[in-house]
Amino acid sequence: MRLIHSINELRRTLSGVSAAFVPTMGNLHAGHLALVKQASRSARPVVVSIFVNPLQFGPGEDYARYPRTLEADCALLEPLGVDYVFVPTVEELYPEPQRFLVLPPLANELCGAHRPGHFAGVCTVVLKLFNIVQPRVAVFGKKDYQQLHLIRAMVREFNLPITILSGETVRDSDGLALSSRNGYLTPEERAEAPRLYRTLRALRERLLAGARDLATLEAEAVGSLAAHGWQVDYVSVRSQASLLAPEPRERALVALAAARLGTTRLIDNVEVELPEPGL
Ligand code: PAF
Repeated sequence: MRLIHSINELRRTLSGVSAAFVPTMGNLHAGHLALVKQASRSARPVVVSIFVNPLQFGPGEDYARYPRTLEADCALLEPLGVDYVFVPTVEELYPEPQRFLVLPPLANELCGAHRPGHFAGVCTVVLKLFNIVQPRVAVFGKKDYQQLHLIRAMVREFNLPITILSGETVRDSDGLALSSRNGYLTPEERAEAPRLYRTLRALRERLLAGARDLATLEAEAVGSLAAHGWQVDYVSVRSQASLLAPEPRERALVALAAARLGTTRLIDNVEVELPEPGL
């Protein structure tokens, strides 16, 4: 496994090969490692990038305190047979003021409504990384459902010759979705955190049992989180295909949520496949 810091060196190294690529911000956990394994089953060589992207953090967010754990990350990647770890500096990736991609209106909904500019920052860095690595395949986790959706849309709209694969969310035994931000939780918050997934699963059960008033289901989920001390950004049931409000009779839905425990913002989602006739 080779660590590469410079764009030119990575380009020279990858010239003529079509890699499988997993972009990350580091502080790797089992969720990332599952994406890396998925990548290595689909193409070789495998490239993992580790870059805490300042463009996707808003003022007052956790850019400065985001955990940077390069040594530990490399120790996790090496046994997986990763070929190259690309670790650019901010100056290497953004040597001049960086203009942002313009994203579709969906980027301002759900998480985007609470983190203005976040997805423009994500898609801008992902497009740059795609241009640098020129992978054949790239893998993203379903935990960041809206991010995955917007990246797929970018790949389609800009005709990028890249297959986007998605990895299932990896969870702790109590259901909490693995996230680098879980490390911010106090022991009490960590004990409370699985409620987010439980709440989404309860919402899914209500849908499967025939409940169809989405606004009521969402409000109930918000209420039950708030009653346990969460500050809820949103709970929303959307179409899997468009991430917009589901159409009548639509069956493939996803319930998404973002909420804070103390200073830590957690997100999660569950997919719901309704039986016929759908909504
Ligand atoms: O999901 C992440 O870790 C980041 O948003 C990504 C895709 C690596 C872009 O910085």
